[in-house]
Amino acid sequence: MCAQYCISFADVEKARLNIQDFVHLTPVLTSSILNQVTGRNLFFKCELFQKTGSFKIRGALNAIRGLISATSEEKPKAVVTHSSGNHGQALAYAAKLEGIPAYIVVPRTAPDCKKMAIQAYGASIVCSEPTDESRENVTKRIVEEMEGIMVHPNQEPTVIAGQGTIALEVLNQVPLVDALVVPVGGGGMAAGIAIAIKTLRPSVKVYAAEPVNADDCYQSKLKGELIPNTHPPETIADGVKSSIGLNTWPIIRDLVDEVFTVTEDEIKYATQLVWERMKLLIEPTAGVGVAAVMSQHFQTVSPEVKNICIVLSGGNVDLTWVKAAAPFQSVSV
Ligand SMILES: Cc1ncc(COP(=O)(O)O)c(C=O)c1O
Repeated sequence: MCAQYCISFADVEKARLNIQDFVHLTPVLTSSILNQVTGRNLFFKCELFQKTGSFKIRGALNAIRGLISATSEEKPKAVVTHSSGNHGQALAYAAKLEGIPAYIVVPRTAPDCKKMAIQAYGASIVCSEPTDESRENVTKRIVEEMEGIMVHPNQEPTVIAGQGTIALEVLNQVPLVDALVVPVGGGGMAAGIAIAIKTLRPSVKVYAAEPVNADDCYQSKLKGELIPNTHPPETIADGVKSSIGLNTWPIIRDLVDEVFTVTEDEIKYATQLVWERMKLLIEPTAGVGVAAVMSQHFQTVSPEVKNICIVLSGGNVDLTWVKAAAPFQSVSV
């Protein structure tokens, strides 16, 4: 393993040093009810309690600190990204910590609460039309105008390495872990975790989880080639709408053991179960991993894979939307 990938294990170790004084060591919790339901010993890595409400701060901060040491003389003039979601908030926060202006390109249709969260962390919002083309064009223009540096949410190597630090913590917190389950969008988190796990403890499985409605990772693994989603996916798990990309695909292809897909109903059910039984306010994207372990397909995983750590990747849920959409039913376990 190594040279053909965009990061190595050394990059993950370096990321840990870069970020460890600025991020929380998030707790790992357990639930006897969820153990009963799944017949496994589950461990929940609570990244919903991470700074900015998701694991994304790990990658964003590592990217920014990497930029500072790379340019050592002076700080970058600005950082830019396109993400109305967790990466946008994380980059805004990380940039503020380092005193660098951040510009976040969001579709003008993005919910106000997301725009407000980004602004609250001190970044400037730049609106694009809600199309990929407009988003790309506006981002390019802002990078030029501000002489900024683009920090991609999931293909930037320093971002991938930052997300990999989750695995270093899990191996310490759950020494007997047999598998990690990771929701996959662009694949930054799955790739970073896979690099760390397969270097330190290759027998530990790395499973990716994604909605059936955004199953590019599953399809890519099935066909053995990168197959992005053909149209914008419709899923309640808005954090995993993006497709895996050129940097994350080779790592996922070689080092992720299996991909599990779940329906919208399964995601909603698992999310609500975690809310009600564990009292953890996860966002539906984080429920994707829980749904995967509860799914029929997961029954095919050997019973020897007993101790399973699910990354509860974020907790940025818009409560007014939950109430308005009322998408949930009562859970019965
Ligand atoms: C809460 C949450 N979970 C999982 C993911 C997926 O991460 P990645 O794009 O690195 O696969 C995201 C991405 O935005 C997210 O916000």
